[in-house]
Amino acid sequence: MSRGAGDAEPGRGGDSLDPADWDALKRSFHAAIDQAIDQLRDIREQPVWRPTPEAVKARLSSALPRRPEALDAVIRRFAEDILPYGTGNIHPRFFGWVHGSGTLAGALGEALAGLMNCNVGGRDHVAVHVERQVIGWCREIFAYPATSSGLLTSGTSMGTIIALAAARDARAEIDVRQHGMAAAPRRLVGYASSEAHSCVAKAFDLLGFGRDALRLVPVDADFRLSLPRLAEMIAADRALGFHPIVVVASAGTVNTGAIDDLAGIAALCRAEGLWLHVDAAFGGLAVLTPEFAPRLGAVAEADSIAFDFHKWLQVPYDAGAVLVKDAGAHRAAFADRRDYLAPAKRGLAGGEPWFCDYGPELSRGFRALKVWFTIKTHGIDRLAEVIARNCRQARRLGRLVAERRELELLAPVSLNIVCFRFAAALDAAALDRLNEAIVAELQLSGIAAPSTTKIGGRAAIRVALTNHRTRDEDLDLLLSEVRRLGREFTSAPAPLLAVDGR
Ligand SMILES: Cc1ncc(COP(=O)(O)O)c(C=O)c1O
Repeated sequence: MSRGAGDAEPGRGGDSLDPADWDALKRSFHAAIDQAIDQLRDIREQPVWRPTPEAVKARLSSALPRRPEALDAVIRRFAEDILPYGTGNIHPRFFGWVHGSGTLAGALGEALAGLMNCNVGGRDHVAVHVERQVIGWCREIFAYPATSSGLLTSGTSMGTIIALAAARDARAEIDVRQHGMAAAPRRLVGYASSEAHSCVAKAFDLLGFGRDALRLVPVDADFRLSLPRLAEMIAADRALGFHPIVVVASAGTVNTGAIDDLAGIAALCRAEGLWLHVDAAFGGLAVLTPEFAPRLGAVAEADSIAFDFHKWLQVPYDAGAVLVKDAGAHRAAFADRRDYLAPAKRGLAGGEPWFCDYGPELSRGFRALKVWFTIKTHGIDRLAEVIARNCRQARRLGRLVAERRELELLAPVSLNIVCFRFAAALDAAALDRLNEAIVAELQLSGIAAPSTTKIGGRAAIRVALTNHRTRDEDLDLLLSEVRRLGREFTSAPAPLLAVDGR
């Protein structure tokens, strides 16, 4: 096919899908990236979140495109229909759930990984070495032994499934991979606090334990797993013929940021011969700060750890990791190499061990590159300072809430999460609706995006600080807006609190 002037449009090449005019393509790339970077540069002046307009949703429901469209036209669609309507977590006043806010260096790593298009399931190429380096850095962060294994994952949910699969296969009295859980002579059970993240129950469900095999241990007044209750529950299960195999401890619970007594749980697990998995999704990374290192150091005693780069280490979504102390147990849970994946001593099929033997996925993207870019560009000390600052901001916010008569702190501030509410003379259900209405209004107005949860059955405004762009003044604005909206809604309660759950 000839490559005349008519083919110069980027995105319309000759025989391949590559462009005919590479310089035009570069200009298109630069323009697209410039727009996205400008949006990030000016983010503070933008609403935190805006709902996707109906017209955009309609365009995003159109049928499968059959014909090519010029890349510049596609970029224009992106700029108009997609770029302005993101989750909001790149904004300094995004405080909801547990969302990292990303870094530009990480975004560059993501884009470059796309250009290299490596498959990191295995084989002998540089992306494997980058991921190994990143896993080595993870070992350093958590003081894990050099003999441990690791894998980058989509997040802590996947890391938890992988770790608990290794725990299950190591502690079951049968070959679960071959015979299935039904062949186990005793029912396998495990333990986590009632505040543990839902990904633990999901893992129990997916791995065939069943959700009711996850015993939920009550928490103390600080929302930490009760160690005496855990010991009692293990003993009771043993007496009934169950087979306790694993405890999942939380290094920072999702609701309140509570850190379980990791050293105490580790000692109990050792005494009982149980596998200790630590959900370190975000809180575990506070081990990098002098303040929290003493309480989190015992993460090193765990048999496995799952955590995220995309939360408190600010790597763009998605990027998490799992570490398993017994690399043999980890590999035994997943390795399955057929003839078409046979290892070789020489050539591209070398490079053992392959990552596909440590998790369920064969094809895997070059996630490690955005982690590598983020950590190399900022350095782990700088990233740790963000963690320490977010914790200081949470404590300050907790103090301000406690000082205001109209506001009520619903849980102690353990780490980076503040749960509070606007308190008014309303019945319990109306008070819940009022606080949910305040959060919805803050989000819809674009002022701030906290989320909600229930603390002791009561609706809470939940502020989770994993955002390197947040300043004290952002939190001051949040509080003044909560108070303004609380007063406004309680002065005209009936219609406002009834509408649409707001
Ligand atoms: C404590 C905790 N564990 C697990 C998860 C799940 O992590 P991911 O969303 O990366 O799968 C979260 C997410 O917020 C979390 O806060």
